[in-house]
Amino acid sequence: MSDATLSQPVGQTTGELMSRYVMGNYARFPIAFTRGEGTWIWDEAGRRYLDFGAGIAVCSIGHCHPAIRAALHEQGGTLIHCSNLYQNRMQAELARYIVETVVRRPGRVFFCNSGAEANDSLIKLARKFGHDTAAATGRVRYETITCTNSFHGRTLGGIAATGQEKVKKGFEPLLEGFRHVPFNDCDALRAAVGPQTAAILFEIVQGEGGIHVASPEFLRTATELREEHGILLMLDEVQCGFGRTGDWNGWETALRGAGWDYQPDAVSWAKGMGGGFAIGGIWASEEPAPGGADFRVCDILGPGTHGSTFGGTPLASAVSLAVLETLEAGGYIPRAGVLGDQIRQAALGWRQPLLRDVRGLGLLIGFVLDEEAIGAVPAFVESGQTPAVYVVNRLMAAGLLTVPAGPGVVRWLPPLTVTDEEVEQALSIMRHTLDAIASA
Ligand SMILES: Cc1ncc(COP(=O)(O)O)c(C=O)c1O
Repeated sequence: MSDATLSQPVGQTTGELMSRYVMGNYARFPIAFTRGEGTWIWDEAGRRYLDFGAGIAVCSIGHCHPAIRAALHEQGGTLIHCSNLYQNRMQAELARYIVETVVRRPGRVFFCNSGAEANDSLIKLARKFGHDTAAATGRVRYETITCTNSFHGRTLGGIAATGQEKVKKGFEPLLEGFRHVPFNDCDALRAAVGPQTAAILFEIVQGEGGIHVASPEFLRTATELREEHGILLMLDEVQCGFGRTGDWNGWETALRGAGWDYQPDAVSWAKGMGGGFAIGGIWASEEPAPGGADFRVCDILGPGTHGSTFGGTPLASAVSLAVLETLEAGGYIPRAGVLGDQIRQAALGWRQPLLRDVRGLGLLIGFVLDEEAIGAVPAFVESGQTPAVYVVNRLMAAGLLTVPAGPGVVRWLPPLTVTDEEVEQALSIMRHTLDAIASA
């Protein structure tokens, strides 16, 4: 940097410092937070907000939960980091918890630091599987089928897997080997499987794509294709996993009452896994790989094939374990399912003209705006914003933080520890804000 650049006057507000020193790759709301506790978060002016965004599904047991603070304190005073060159007790304990309590099927876990990195790990798993079965199939399979409207992260693998043009634009040539099919379109999924297909990857609830839930038929079709073509079933549970849908795993909620289980070969997570501390991971099954392979899915990424310096440090593992144990001990996961149903029913009962639908699973909820109705509101038209951003801004002004999911959906993903009163308060703010927008 030149002296001239360094000596330019810089304002002192957080916004001014951010725009002077931090890259402008995010469209940020003009607000900065200083403190959080439970479902509440305070801005720099000392105003408090109900946080129903929770860092986009990250703060699963609320801000600064005592269990997280205790784990940070204890593990932080014992051993923060050790390389994956060595054995790691906390990592092993967390993996055991994930295998025995969360997935409840034999398997192995790999740890990393984010959702995109976890999905890159799945993509590598699929590619390696395609190579390792080449002798038997007579070809190297390398394709992963994903869905339109999906979101799988911002790495080169993540954007290639994602079924949204806006994340890819300007980064071509993209990583090869992806086909996208419309979500829940069983015929399209069937038709997309070709000689190069190694795996299918999708979200049980498309979060960024507008809160769309996978249908049992889609899951059934994917299962049939696995058997017919010997391909891996992979799930991205980065946003909807670890209890948010009302079960440990999104696929369990999606199939509740269906009388059969979905059996993915591999799953990715991040977000709520660390309750705010960066950690991600994948689980891979101990079952033989599909297509009659003579090796197990969990052995595909063998020694030297994959890694991450920070993956599953003692500190990250201790915090994640504390988060998962808190979720279970508090009964928060089934409660998320019950609360989600109550919220959806309450909001649908408003018959609010701006609200077309309320969808989702558990505490991953999408308030679908009626874009035509809101398009008739002069203040909205003048704002130049998408309907979702406009409503999110109005809710923020009223003291409720929410997150847009695409242009027309307002998303709620509160901590799973949210109280009944906080839900009542948020519903009241939501209802009054929509009424105020509609009657302006
Ligand atoms: C379903 C899904 N997958 C992957 C990601 C990427 O996660 P990260 O931002 O931790 O890389 C996200 C983030 O929103 C997500 O919702």
